[in-house]
Amino acid sequence: MCGIVGYTGAGQAAPVLLDGLSKLEYRGYDSAGIAVRDGEAEPVIVKEKGRIADLKKKIGSEDNVIGTCGIGHTRWATHGAPSETNAHPHHSDDNAVVGVHNGIIENYEEIRAKLKKKGYEFYSQTDTECIIKLVDYYYKKYQETPIEAIARAILRVRGSYALCLMFADYPGEIFCARNGSPMIIGMTGEDAFVASDVPAILNYTRHVYYIDNMEMAHLKKGGVEFFNIDGDRIEKELVEIKWDAEAAEKGGYEHFMLKEIHEQPKAVEDTIHSVVKDGNRIDLSGVGLSEEEIKKISQIYIVACGSAYHVGVSSQYVLEDLAGIPVRVELASEFRYRSMPLLQDALAIIISQSGETADSLEALRKMKASGIKTLAIVNVVGSSIAREADHVFYTLAGPEIAVATTKAYSTQLVANDLLAIEFGRVRGLLTDEEAYRLVEEVKSIPEKIATILEDKNRIQWFASKFANAHDIFFIGRGIDYATCMEGSLKCKEISYIHSEAYAAGELKHGTISLVEEGTLVIGVCTQSEVFEKTVSNMVETASRGAYLMGLTTEDNYSLEDVARFTVFVPKVDEHFSTSLAVVPLQLLGYYISLARGLDVDKPRNLAKSVTVE
Ligand code: G6P
Repeated sequence: MCGIVGYTGAGQAAPVLLDGLSKLEYRGYDSAGIAVRDGEAEPVIVKEKGRIADLKKKIGSEDNVIGTCGIGHTRWATHGAPSETNAHPHHSDDNAVVGVHNGIIENYEEIRAKLKKKGYEFYSQTDTECIIKLVDYYYKKYQETPIEAIARAILRVRGSYALCLMFADYPGEIFCARNGSPMIIGMTGEDAFVASDVPAILNYTRHVYYIDNMEMAHLKKGGVEFFNIDGDRIEKELVEIKWDAEAAEKGGYEHFMLKEIHEQPKAVEDTIHSVVKDGNRIDLSGVGLSEEEIKKISQIYIVACGSAYHVGVSSQYVLEDLAGIPVRVELASEFRYRSMPLLQDALAIIISQSGETADSLEALRKMKASGIKTLAIVNVVGSSIAREADHVFYTLAGPEIAVATTKAYSTQLVANDLLAIEFGRVRGLLTDEEAYRLVEEVKSIPEKIATILEDKNRIQWFASKFANAHDIFFIGRGIDYATCMEGSLKCKEISYIHSEAYAAGELKHGTISLVEEGTLVIGVCTQSEVFEKTVSNMVETASRGAYLMGLTTEDNYSLEDVARFTVFVPKVDEHFSTSLAVVPLQLLGYYISLARGLDVDKPRNLAKSVTVE
């Protein structure tokens, strides 16, 4: 989604802005722009549709954008098509206010109509232009300071946003505000930075301030001040970012996705070790859940989006079976608009890599407002969901750059596994010995993932064979169905091949009519209880011409009699089999995309962190 970078200080702004924007490319965008100011001169604004490379080409020499203060933006179109005109920065008619914005202003049409009556004209279709002109309007009407004018404007707008503005009357200064969309401020010596995401400024500083909703910041060379909505000065705590800048580089891999697939053993191991202490004891004190609280839980609601939702679908089987607690898994975008009676002794688990997904954040707020205790499983420290939840279980995946998640997904799975085991032990469903044995199984996952990765060439070969497929069907039952959902998403989002995940038993209620000669059907069969059933469903599709790929655990060699290509993953307690079975499917998606020559890390139309509804 959209990205923001701003800089003011002793050096030149343009190189910092362009470097920062390129670090945000992974979030997904369709146009970009910068505005740079040299002292009191008018800002130079350059915008371009397409990639940062296109913007750089348009700028030409950096001598064309001289100045020590500037703001930059990558846009992912919401209001108005991707175009140079709709790209940010936007400006008031006389350039008194120039700005960039992330998020959505919901009442922008109302604001536009009001400003039109006051004589304002609009050149773009964006909601951003409306908020910038609204600030301009208040600034001029009330002859106020920028902070006062911004405060007045944000009280008037509805929606979520992060806003960065430069005022003609305040050379070398940047003014920011946020509500709902992430924004951080960094300082080092005389240089002040603002960004929507940590990687944008990690090359320059590791010490940042997080601005909260309805707060504002004023940046100038050598200093930053913070304000609340009343315009009063407030103090903020400086937080150290522990990420390693190198972790956000490709490190010799052709794509971030392949690098992140290979980082899974370590990411999963680190996440396990964050709560598994001496021997195999699970310690949730860091998460903040007491045994009394765990005993009281009568229902679990898992709410998430995308792959995080798929983690929820897989984990519901594990939680219900090991902890004996009923689980409902909800899509955050659906849940937030639904009036569902919620049980008061419930625990809501919100799963999110970024911690900023708009729908998941709203679902969390809705749970809290209904008096439900919330636990966030989040990867990004200090993110909105992490800060607003009652309890946080941090996954230790490190920065994930590829749009298609892999390592964050895998860490979310083990986080849920460990919660299920500990809940089961505390609630008396598992003895200490059983719990320890299960933890031992979870601890074996990293090494087993590493073994699967050693066999990736076979999958690459198979992927190249099906790189031109029209449709791919993933079928499985129970936990295997959950694995299929993620495998199918991995495949379609980066290869642009239509694919579907189907509960194997449902296939004959309609979808099997789509199977024809040569259609690829991938059967996931790791659950012994339903193994034969899924195999029968695979055979039904083969009778209608399907080409069968099987995915199962070592020892289930009989699958080779049915499938024309079979992948075996190491054995693990069947509750945890998604952690292993998903890996060949991640590789399959990756290699199909590679064979088709697509932009693996930045698939079309997608964004890494979806901060709008
Ligand atoms: C986007 C990403 C997905 C991710 C989903 C939820 O669609 O491309 O990979 O699963 O958002 O994101 P979250 O950050 O909440 O896990």
